[in-house]
Amino acid sequence: VINLIIAIDGPAGCGKSTIAKMIAKKLGYTYIDTGAMYRAVALKLKRENVNPDDLKAVLKVMEDTDIQLKTAENGVKVFLDGEDVSDQIRTEEIGKMASQIARYPQVRKVLVKMQRHLGEKAKNAVIEGRDTGTVIFPDADVKIFLTAKPEVRAERRYKELKEKGLDVSYEEILKQVKERDYLDETRKDSPLKPAEDAVIIDTSNKSIEQVFNEVMEVIKRKS
Ligand code: C5P
Repeated sequence: VINLIIAIDGPAGCGKSTIAKMIAKKLGYTYIDTGAMYRAVALKLKRENVNPDDLKAVLKVMEDTDIQLKTAENGVKVFLDGEDVSDQIRTEEIGKMASQIARYPQVRKVLVKMQRHLGEKAKNAVIEGRDTGTVIFPDADVKIFLTAKPEVRAERRYKELKEKGLDVSYEEILKQVKERDYLDETRKDSPLKPAEDAVIIDTSNKSIEQVFNEVMEVIKRKS
């Protein structure tokens, strides 16, 4: 196989970014974080005070927005109109705004085209998101769908933020996790769901190491 695509999808906080980065590093593949692109658009909307419910205005902003993903030591750096916004896009507020604009087919169309192009340009890629195995690359060589119970995902996120010294509430995080699941699973265009031929892995009771090994096994079997 000359061009090998590994598609990893799943809900917010299931560990797919961590796993996708590890796999890409291990195999020397290009890592493509599709969610980062929705987040970059959301950050720009926030900065320009554009209401994410105003589709016309959103599309107008997108017309002159440049988003670049650049491979870095620990995964990827995200550039919005030339500015490194890798850290700024990682807030829950931006995640939720990303989810709000991700429901518009017109928004998805633009980003999916860029994402497909990135995957095709990369010789081999690990691409991660919600629709990478269903819409972006329906013919991906390997499709993985990671999931975990909302309570487990909220707990992981809670610990992560606590370790950063932030004053957060578990209940609030659980609410946010469930809200984003709802938005992503119920939208009409490209809702979050496993591809028919995806291998589903529930990470609720597994360590990162265990999940990594299982995914590597699937890749060995399928490629
Ligand atoms: O994965 P991440 O949390 O960065 O994604 C942010 C939001 O972008 C998701 O909640 C989802 O609504 C949207 N998204 C999407 N399709 C993708 C990747 C992300 O709709 N392929």
